[in-house]
Amino acid sequence: MTVAHAAELIRTARSGLALTGAGVSAESGIPTFRGEGGLWTQYDPIKVASIEYFLADPSAYWKVSKDRGRVALAARPNGGHYALAALETSGRLVAVVTQNTDGLHQDSSTRNVIELHGSGRHVQCLDCGNREARSEVQARLDVEMPPRCRLCGGGFLKPTVVLFGEPLPKAAIQQALTLARQADVMLVVGSSLVVYPAADIPAVAVRSGAQLIVINAEPTPFDELAAVVVRGKSGEVLPEIVALIDG
Ligand code: APR
Ligand code: ZN
Repeated sequence: MTVAHAAELIRTARSGLALTGAGVSAESGIPTFRGEGGLWTQYDPIKVASIEYFLADPSAYWKVSKDRGRVALAARPNGGHYALAALETSGRLVAVVTQNTDGLHQDSSTRNVIELHGSGRHVQCLDCGNREARSEVQARLDVEMPPRCRLCGGGFLKPTVVLFGEPLPKAAIQQALTLARQADVMLVVGSSLVVYPAADIPAVAVRSGAQLIVINAEPTPFDELAAVVVRGKSGEVLPEIVALIDG
């Protein structure tokens, strides 16, 4: 019933907006941050992923990122990513706003991806600003910890992602909020919705009259605001929704 109800709402959407979190990439093999087996159940996020700790000692971040990066760089989109791309192609979604930095929405051909927390596919030197591909750096982490800039030879390298304590890219959050205000359907997939300002997106959409759909493996603080809550795996639920719409 709930999947059919979600499909019915999405079928008639003309300015739908999706917000995704780590859960949409879980079936691509990338561990989530919270919930069962989440990264923050093993590490203190402030110690390994805040800008304050990074500047004091980049190694703590890079030691965790070495494993996570290897998995993320090898990951491929799953059925959930492709289903969201299909919903954009058929005009139901105008964009996918993501908290993820793995690039899998772009890899699955979603055209309008808004990355609230940046991209994990590049790194930047904190001294000279030189950018390198994250995959290049991955190759030398066994012998260079923390990795340093190849151009100036001294600067620490930081992935172009938003760490705790850093501002989100202004253009991304403003574009996402504008689309949230215009959304007729707000589809949240695979997010615990506990991190702000990302969680402002569904809040603004609902306040502006959007129907909220939450597809998540565990309860979220927004479930009671939702027209539909689907408790399940996005890699299974989203393709089912697309199949019902394409009927
Ligand atoms: N399908 C749907 N939902 C899933 C799946 C799945 N296959 N697997 C896990 N989930 C759910 C979990 O139950 C959890 O509620 O996805 C959610 C992921 O939540 P988080 O790990 O908190 O990820 P996210 O909401 O994206 O975190 C936001 O926090 O640490 C920061 O910057 C990081 O972008 C991240 C932000
Ligand atoms: Zn440099």
